[in-house]
Amino acid sequence: MRYITIALAKGRLARKAMEILDRSGISCEEMRDESSRKLIFVNEDLKLKFFLAKASDVPTYVEYGAADLGVVGKDTILEEGRRLYEVMDLGIGKCRMCVAGPASAKIRLQNHELIRVATKYPAIAKEYFNNKKHQTVELIKLNGSVELAPIVGLSEVIVDIVETGTTLRENGLEVLEEICPLSARVVVNQVSMKMEQERISRILEGFRKGLGS
Ligand code: PRP
Repeated sequence: MRYITIALAKGRLARKAMEILDRSGISCEEMRDESSRKLIFVNEDLKLKFFLAKASDVPTYVEYGAADLGVVGKDTILEEGRRLYEVMDLGIGKCRMCVAGPASAKIRLQNHELIRVATKYPAIAKEYFNNKKHQTVELIKLNGSVELAPIVGLSEVIVDIVETGTTLRENGLEVLEEICPLSARVVVNQVSMKMEQERISRILEGFRKGLGS
């Protein structure tokens, strides 16, 4: 029997996903060792393989079938735009994709001015401003600590994830517009969904059971 491979976005999401699977008996002993630098873990009994990847790479592994399943944030799914099936909302890692900035930028947004938007998520920002708001903006791609951009004058606003709102607050910024809610999702390769329907259903059942629903 071939292995079913599951790609997990490394970090908090992977830990939570493993906790959920653990509760339904689908686990991987080896993965508990947090100090390990090992990237791939095998459950021989269930013929499952788990690997940890950078979040933005999870949809890539799943689209190409290197992983049959993946656990990754909706933000990454939207940004990467890969061909895959999004089959379950795990309801963990809940947060929001927002346009944020200083209060003074609100009027510029409302007036549809040509503003600069700094973000780690250019595809999401482009889709939102072009197709939803019909507002022409200049997108500036950053790789982290996006909140800095309006503070140092790189951009008027940012498009970023807001969870508790602490980062914005502590930097004198606020949510100006909400783009969409986010949470962790289970994604499945389109071919695997057909070829391994039964085993994948069982894993999804495991997620459901582990979530207590
Ligand atoms: C994310 C996001 C915000 C912050 C939001 O950053 O980009 O900066 O968390 O959380 P809060 O609303 O609870 O303050 P992350 O920690 O992933 O780091 P990064 O900014 O370097 O990407």
